[in-house]
Amino acid sequence: MSSKNITILSIESSCDETAAAVVRNGREVISSVISTQVPIHTLYGGVVPEIASRKHIERVNQVIEQALQDAKMTLDDIDAIAVTRGPGLVGALLVGVSVAKAISYAKNIPLVGVHHIEGHICANYIEYPTLEPPFMCLVVSGGHTHLVNVSNYGEYEVLGRTRDDAAGEAFDKIGREIGLGYPGGPKIEAAAKEGNPNAVDLPRAVVNDNVYDFSFSGLKSATLNYLNSVRMKGEEVNIPDVAASFQQAVVDALVEHAMLGATEYGAKKLAIAGGVASNSTFREAMKTACEDKGIEFFCPSKILCTDNAAMIGCAGYYEYINGRRDGLDLDAVPYLKLGE
Ligand code: KG4
Ligand code: ZN
Repeated sequence: MSSKNITILSIESSCDETAAAVVRNGREVISSVISTQVPIHTLYGGVVPEIASRKHIERVNQVIEQALQDAKMTLDDIDAIAVTRGPGLVGALLVGVSVAKAISYAKNIPLVGVHHIEGHICANYIEYPTLEPPFMCLVVSGGHTHLVNVSNYGEYEVLGRTRDDAAGEAFDKIGREIGLGYPGGPKIEAAAKEGNPNAVDLPRAVVNDNVYDFSFSGLKSATLNYLNSVRMKGEEVNIPDVAASFQQAVVDALVEHAMLGATEYGAKKLAIAGGVASNSTFREAMKTACEDKGIEFFCPSKILCTDNAAMIGCAGYYEYINGRRDGLDLDAVPYLKLGE
C-alpha cells in the first residue's frame, strides 16, 4: 500500500436515509451527514419506496455538499467515490448510484460500488481502528439477518441467514401491530423498558437443516396469536410486557445462533452490525455471552449501526485498495448477495 492518504466520498441511499461521508484511509471519518426520512414514512406505517426515491432526489445533493463542507474539502480532494449499489430498494439505490456516476464522470474520479451489508460489517473497523479480520459478524438489520465469517478484507462466508423475516422486519411488524408505529425496533425497545420479558411465553425458532439459519415468522405468528387471543377475551394488551417478551425472544435467538457459530468455528472475535445492533438489550446479551466464552466482543456505536455513509466509505476503501473500479455502467442491484 502506498503511504499517500486515500480520501473517499461515500454515498448511501438504499432505504430511508440519504447519507454522505468523507472517510480517510478507511477508518477515519472526516465528516458524516445523515438525512433521515423516518418522520415521513412513519405517517404510512413503513417505508413507501416511491416516496423514498423522491426524497433521496430532493436531498442527495445537499447532503453531499454538506459532507464536503464539514470536511472542509472540495471534489478535488477526493480520490474515489464509493456508493451503495445493493441490496435495497431499487429506486432509492438508483439515486445514489446515478449521482455517484455523474460526479465520477464530471470530475474523472474513480467509482467503487459497495455492498450495503459489507458496509454494515465495516462499521466495526471505524469504531475499532485496530480490528482486523478474521472475525465472526452477526449482521441484523431491517432487511437482513446474516451470520458471516469475515475471513479477510472483502472476503465473506455467509454461515446462516434468515429463512423468512429479518429480525428488524419482525420488530417493525410487531411494533405496528401493537400500535407503536414505524420503526418498530426503537419503539419496542423503549416500551420494553417498563415490561416483563417473561410475561408472554414465545417460541425461539430452530431451523433443523442448518443450525446457523434464523427464522422469525413463527415468533411473529405466535405474538400475533397471543394478541388476538387477549383481544378476543376483551382484555387489554399489556404493551410493555408484549414488547419486552418479544424483544427477549428475538435477542435469545440471535445470541444463541451467533454463539453457536462462533464456538463451532473457533472464532476469537465476534462483532455485531446493522440497525438492530443498536438495541441495548441485544448489545448487553451479546457482550455477556462473549465474555462467558472468552470471545472478544465488538459493537459499533449506535449511530454507526443504523444506515450511514461512513460505513460505505470504509467498505469502499478496502474495495478500492483491492483494485475494484466500476464504470459508468454500474447498476443498482436490489437483491445483491454478499460476495457477488
Ligand atoms: O440497518 P438499518 O438502519 O437499515 C437496513 O439496512 O435495513 O436497520 C433498520 C432496522 C429497522 O427494522 C429498525 O426497526 C431496526 O433496524 N432497529 C432496531 C433498533 N433500532 C433500529 N431494532 C431493535 N432495536 C432498536 N433499538
Ligand atoms: Zn442497512
